[in-house]
Amino acid sequence: MTDTPLEQLLQQHFSIDALQQSPAALQQALRMLGSWLSAEHAPYPHVPYAELIEQLSASSAPADGMPVGQFLEHLQHTVLANTAQLNHPQYIGHMTQALPWISVLAEAFTAALNQNQVKIETAYVSTLIEKQLLGWLHRQVYHQSEDVYAQAMSATSGALGNMVNGGTMGNLTALAVALEKQLPGTRKRGLFATMQESSYSGLAVIGSARSHYSIKKALASLGLGEHALQLVPVDGDNRIDLVALEQTISRLKAQNIKIVALVGIAGTTETGAIDPLAQLAAIAAREQIWFHVDAAWGGALLVAEPYRHLYQGIELADSVVIDGHKLLWVPMAQSMVLMRDSSSLNLLKHNANYILRDNSGDLGQTSLEGSRRFDALKLWTSFKVLGLSGYATLLGQAATLSEQFQALLADQQDFELITRSDTFILTYRYVPVLLRQRMDALLAEGNLDAALALNQQINTLNAKLQNRQKAEGESFVSRTVLESTRYPGPTNVLRVVMTNVKTRPRHLRAILAEQRDIGQALARELALETGG
Ligand SMILES: Cc1ncc(COP(=O)(O)O)c(C=O)c1O
Repeated sequence: MTDTPLEQLLQQHFSIDALQQSPAALQQALRMLGSWLSAEHAPYPHVPYAELIEQLSASSAPADGMPVGQFLEHLQHTVLANTAQLNHPQYIGHMTQALPWISVLAEAFTAALNQNQVKIETAYVSTLIEKQLLGWLHRQVYHQSEDVYAQAMSATSGALGNMVNGGTMGNLTALAVALEKQLPGTRKRGLFATMQESSYSGLAVIGSARSHYSIKKALASLGLGEHALQLVPVDGDNRIDLVALEQTISRLKAQNIKIVALVGIAGTTETGAIDPLAQLAAIAAREQIWFHVDAAWGGALLVAEPYRHLYQGIELADSVVIDGHKLLWVPMAQSMVLMRDSSSLNLLKHNANYILRDNSGDLGQTSLEGSRRFDALKLWTSFKVLGLSGYATLLGQAATLSEQFQALLADQQDFELITRSDTFILTYRYVPVLLRQRMDALLAEGNLDAALALNQQINTLNAKLQNRQKAEGESFVSRTVLESTRYPGPTNVLRVVMTNVKTRPRHLRAILAEQRDIGQALARELALETGG
């Protein structure tokens, strides 16, 4: 008797017996993963994007399936071969990097267990694991008493925080809580009714010019609008300018605009700078506004003693966001939004009859998301396997690498460090010596127009350099545009994130050597007078 199509499908793709009896596919997948994790390819794909679009432009889904072995081959050639190798030692451009392999295994368990963290009925022990992990991170930030953490484990209402999909969702959650706290009832009535009934002429959230764009997204989603974000200029160290902040607050108050929240940044995306959190906390307390700290990037440093002093005042924040998938070395997506007061998240509390019964302890009660993966597992695994001491070692290596790169830059006449930070992000530029001398002379003379024009040329040089290295080179760094540098006007800079644990000084030297070669070729193409 022949199997029905359903029986065949179940046997091939749902029954684990077949896989166990003939593990060739599993072995093939493990080989592929092993080769990927050993980072043998160029860090950035060289196949032009247009070619990939063509390869992937079939507009109908496959009518019939293919054997798994054949699919894995396809995966290798189509996906793995054309994927940015973020774990390559010469990929130091973004906040994603080499991972401990145990977290890849943890991801496999998350998929296999397929828990839904929304309610205990679909997330039995995983609810507690998530709570425990939130408690561990909360403790690093807020140092509350042992009782607080013990009670939080069995609490059926309130929460120390939410585990969320990323910093973006964390910032949205924090600002949703802030809005409800500052304008009670808005969640039910809507912002329109709240404003009609209030005497305010508008609403604002304040953050520095380095605010991550997710803050704007949150304000758009909450109905305040992106323009509600009042951007305060930064000082020469890329930290919020406190004098300008006070002026902004005075202006908004004079305009009768209600300030819903003040956002401090602990590790800005572009430069890694940490705002003066204790001063911001004092200002927020004086003005009785919600104080949120976006520590999506830098918050992880709190797990290691040597860095805690940088975050003085973070324990006064009403809410804090920390991304595990950035500086805690776990795969995407994994992030946390923490609340100083565990009752704050009740401001978002939702209940439904079939799940999330009131005071059920279901995590979904306070989450803006619905179905949610057991993403806590990979970070819980990393803490168990690496321990706090392992994290301290990884962070120490990032600090060392950061120092090494700065020392290397200081030795090059044609590279210039633009910003440094305590959170391992550096920016720099390729500036041929003659151009730098000319710029120095123009600035000394106060010839701003000519300096601006020259800066524009250096901008073009650096932007093209980054593009060419990405498309053709063996290394990857990113770039951004800063103001408030020694250069006049918007300034294109190369940006590196020194947290790739596979990167060694020889890789850094290779990255700079490649940039110099590209830079010199570009200077010739652009007919820049560089004297060499
Ligand atoms: C400071 C900061 N906040 C928020 C975010 C958004 O985080 P995610 O990409 O995890 O949503 C980022 C991302 O780079 C960030 O650097």
